[in-house]
Amino acid sequence: MEKLSKFKKIFNRIYHQLFVENFDKKLNFEFPKDYSRLDMINYFIKKNDYKSYLEIGCDKNQIFSQIDLNKKIGVDPYSGGNVRKSSDDFFKENTEKFDLIFIDGLHVYKQVKRDIINSINFLNNEGVILVHDCLPDTIGKQAVPRYKMQWNGDVWKAIVDLRQRDDLEIHTCFVDQGIGIIKKENNSSTLKIDKKTQDLKFSDFYHNHNEYLRIINLDEFKKIY
Ligand SMILES: C[S@@+](CC[C@H](N)C(=O)[O-])C[C@H]1O[C@@H](n2cnc3c(N)ncnc32)[C@H](O)[C@@H]1O
Repeated sequence: MEKLSKFKKIFNRIYHQLFVENFDKKLNFEFPKDYSRLDMINYFIKKNDYKSYLEIGCDKNQIFSQIDLNKKIGVDPYSGGNVRKSSDDFFKENTEKFDLIFIDGLHVYKQVKRDIINSINFLNNEGVILVHDCLPDTIGKQAVPRYKMQWNGDVWKAIVDLRQRDDLEIHTCFVDQGIGIIKKENNSSTLKIDKKTQDLKFSDFYHNHNEYLRIINLDEFKKIY
C-alpha cells in the first residue's frame, strides 16, 4: 500500500480542510469483530458453489492467498495477486468471466465506479460483486486526497451513484468497514437524490448513510443472501 510521508499527510490534511470540506462529527461504527470480508467471500462461494474469483487490489495477499478455488485472479500494479497491472489495464484485455469479484483497489470514487462497471461486464449472471471500505466513520478516513494511514476513501460515493440505477440490486452490509454487495438484478429500492455524486460531502454521508447505502446488518444479510 502507498506510504504517506509526514509532509504529505500534513499538506493533504490542510488542503482538504481549506478547499474540500471541514466537518468534525464522527459516526459511532462498531463493526462485529467476528465476521470479516473473508467470511463473507467464503459464505458466497460455499452457498452458491462458485468456481471463479477475481480480486482487484491484493496488497499482501491477506485475502487472495486464502481463497480455495482453482480459478482465481488477483490484480494489483504493486504487490500481491498474480497479475501485475492496474485494474483499468486488466479489464482492457480480459476475456474471462467470474462468479465473485472482490473490489479493493484504489479507494477513489471515479476509480471504484469504473472498477464496478467493468466488473459487471465480466460477472456471470448469478455472480456477485463485493466492494470493501464502503463505511468510513470520520472525514479523515474518507478524505481524498488521503491524509491518514487507515483509509476507506470515498468508495461510498460509487455505491450511492450506482444505487440510482434500476438494473442493479445493491446493499451494504455493516461488517468489516462496510461491504457493498452488488448483483445483476432489478433494483428493489432505487435511490433518488437530487445532488450530483461528485458534489456529495462527508456531511451528506453522515446524515444519510443508511438510506444512501441501503445498510443491512449481518442477520439481515443472511436472510437476503
Ligand atoms: C487496501 S489494499 C488491498 C487489501 C486486500 N484486498 C485485503 O483485503 O486485505 C489496496 C491495494 O490496491 C492496490 N491498487 C492501487 N491502485 C490500484 C489499481 N489502479 N488497480 C488495482 N489495484 C490497485 C494497491 O497496490 C493495494 O495493494
